[in-house]
Amino acid sequence: MTSADLKDTTAIVIRPVEAADLGQVIAIDAESTGIQKTDYWYELFHRFGTGHSRQRLFLVAESEGTIQGFIIGEVRDWEFGSPSCGWVFAIDVRPGARLAGLGTKLFDSICAGFRHAGVDTVRTQVSRDNNLMLSFVRSQGMMAAPVITLEMSLD
Ligand SMILES: CC(C)(COP(=O)(O)OP(=O)(O)OC[C@H]1O[C@@H](n2cnc3c(N)ncnc32)[C@H](O)[C@@H]1OP(=O)(O)O)[C@@H](O)C(=O)NCCC(=O)NCCS
Repeated sequence: MTSADLKDTTAIVIRPVEAADLGQVIAIDAESTGIQKTDYWYELFHRFGTGHSRQRLFLVAESEGTIQGFIIGEVRDWEFGSPSCGWVFAIDVRPGARLAGLGTKLFDSICAGFRHAGVDTVRTQVSRDNNLMLSFVRSQGMMAAPVITLEMSLD
C-alpha cells in the first residue's frame, strides 16, 4: 500500500496499541532510529498500552492489518509547577507511509485523548536540528513553550 492509497483516510484506523502490534512498532522505530530496543518497547507497552489510564496513551495507525505509525504520550500533573498538560514523547510513521496525513491523524487523536483527560495544552520536545520534526510540529500549530530544557554532562 502506497502513501497515495493511505490518503484515502477511511482505510486508516487509529486505535490503542495491542500486544500483537509490538513487533511492527519495534520494526518502525528501528528503521527510524537504527536501534532495535525490544525490552524498552515491551516496558512501554506495560506502562502505556493497557488502556486502563486516561492519562497514558499509546495509539497506532492501522490499515488492512499493517501498523503504519504510532504515537505515545501522557498527562503530567504539576510538573515543575506547570498546570497539567499532555506530553507527546514519541511519534513515528513508517517511511513508505509518510506525507499522507497519518502523522496529523495520530497527533489529532492523542490531542483528543488529552482533552478527554481534562487538559487543554499539549507539549513536546524536538531537537533544534531536526528539521523534519520541527516542520511537522509547526504544521500542527505548535509554538515555542514558555519553558526551556537544560542539561549538563555528569562525566
Ligand atoms: C514527522 C512525521 C511523524 C510526520 O508524519 P507524516 O505522516 O508524514 O505527517 P503528515 O503527512 O501528517 O504531514 C503533516 C505536515 O507535516 C509537515 N511535514 C511532514 N513531512 C515533512 C517533510 N518531509 N518535509 C517538510 N515538512 C514535512 C508538512 O507541513 C505536512 O503538511 P503538508 O503535507 O500539508 O505539507 C514522520 O515524518 C516521522 O515519523 N518522522 C520520523 C520521526 C522520528 O524520528 N521519530 C522518532 C523519535 S520520536
